[in-house]
Amino acid sequence: MQEKLDKLDRKISEALKGGGEKRIEAQHAKGKLTARERIHFLMDEGSFEEIGMLVTHRSVEFGLDKQKVLGDGVVTGYGTVNGRLTYVFAQDFTVLGGSLAEAHAEKICRIMDLAMKNGAPLIGLNDSGGARIQEGVVSLGGYADIFYRNTLASGVVPQISAIMGPCAGGAVYSPALTDFIAMVENTSYMFVTGPNVVKTVTHEEVSAEDLGGASAHATKSGVTHFTYANEIACINGLKQMLSYMPQNCEEEAPALAYEPANEARPGLNGIIPDNPNQPYDIREVIAHTVDENSFLEVHKDFAENIVVGFARLGGRSIGVVANQPAFLAGVLDINSSTKGARFVRFCDCFNIPLLVFEDVPGFLPGTDQEWNAIITNGAKLLYAFSEATVPRITVITRKAYGGAYDVMNSKHIGADMNYAWPSAEIAVMGAKGAAEIIFKKEIKEAEDPAKKLKEKEEEYAHIFANPYRAAARGYVDEVIRPEQTRQKLLKAFQMLENKADTLPRKKHGNIPL
Ligand code: HXC
Repeated sequence: MQEKLDKLDRKISEALKGGGEKRIEAQHAKGKLTARERIHFLMDEGSFEEIGMLVTHRSVEFGLDKQKVLGDGVVTGYGTVNGRLTYVFAQDFTVLGGSLAEAHAEKICRIMDLAMKNGAPLIGLNDSGGARIQEGVVSLGGYADIFYRNTLASGVVPQISAIMGPCAGGAVYSPALTDFIAMVENTSYMFVTGPNVVKTVTHEEVSAEDLGGASAHATKSGVTHFTYANEIACINGLKQMLSYMPQNCEEEAPALAYEPANEARPGLNGIIPDNPNQPYDIREVIAHTVDENSFLEVHKDFAENIVVGFARLGGRSIGVVANQPAFLAGVLDINSSTKGARFVRFCDCFNIPLLVFEDVPGFLPGTDQEWNAIITNGAKLLYAFSEATVPRITVITRKAYGGAYDVMNSKHIGADMNYAWPSAEIAVMGAKGAAEIIFKKEIKEAEDPAKKLKEKEEEYAHIFANPYRAAARGYVDEVIRPEQTRQKLLKAFQMLENKADTLPRKKHGNIPL
């Protein structure tokens, strides 16, 4: 028996070495952790159980028969994160560049299947050169097996991807199918084809960082939702994200203990400027309303005219969607609509109630927006809100103009409660534009057209630039003092706690993509 035990020990120690000491050193020299170190920092101490440690690939071509490494370049298993069951895979760049082929893919699929059957989140720690070139079509098949499972798991269990090294080809499409992507600055890249291929095909000279680094994807493409300065910060970020989410679509997110206290927030009274065209930071409104320091902003550097993120209200998880008057006046455009819609749908999948702060002058006009399909993209946000069955509350802080009034979680598309501050202006458009159109003839024929326009503008503003018309119709349930907002929301969300709503029976809807 001793001999057999020794053999097992040898195998385990061989597996733990991954691609070997030298390659591990090279990984560290780049400021990167190894796959096992990443799992160590992610999972609660002593909770990780590895699955498939002794798996190897079965290929012989291109010298692969001499490059068999136990585990085949990916560490997979389960454990707990903050006491809750979580499945994880971590690709090992020290083994064939973390590339994915048959056995590697089978290991990932195995834990994806377990995550689905047992209703627990899946975390992917990606560090891979994509499909293993030497294994040919089985590598492509392996990726497709994962993509298929990512899609089936979507909306069933939360899936989060961290990008912790260069990820190319197939290694970016699996993360793209998951709910959230986090990248590490300066050491992680995502691209379908790298700089060399780009140069050959389009003659563009671009660095890996500029093409697919964390900053490019956080600000330009919006592919990544979070960026972190280093891997430890990234892993802590993953834990923080999970804390707002339920284990699966049948459960509620965990609530923190909460002691009711004085819920008045006088600080909210002074945020809206007297001049309706002056910007203010909607994050201030969010920070004053939700539980202290509980706001976790998602997609912070992308489409900054809308702010989305998780927060807690009275200890419970909520999703916040808010127009940002401090950026492009909070206008809705293609990117902000897509960003908002994606977040709304995540929250709805996972029973996280939605809180909307509205201050929106309308949709962004112009050829760029029209030709790039603001119609289709704006409709995504409209669709996402309309379809959401979680408790939904809107607070109109200032402008609610035009189609954007309808889109931003209006009562008409299913919001449960709609509050407005006295500073709210709810109309088809701003007073100046409205006066120019409906009083065009009168203004033109006036002795002093400018004076006439001003007069008509004031007349229109007097009638519509307030929340009372909407309140008279019941489109707004209550006009409240800003300081009362938190209190009102606490009560309303509590009232909606057992909300049960269903959509008409269908296979699935057809969101405008
Ligand atoms: C096999 C690979 C590999 C791959 C890297 N390696 N990528 N082996 N298949 N896809 C190996 C290298 O040969 C090398 O082995 C080791 O991993 C480290 O790679 P380096 O190039 O030395 O590292 P680095 O300079 O950091 O560059 C990393 C990289 C680069 C940017 C990922 O290796 C690269 O461009 N790889 C190819 C990426 C790619 O085109 N993938 C797409 C595949 S197609 P040694 O033994 O020398 O250390 C695909 C389609 C899927 O994925 C379908 C999707 C829909």
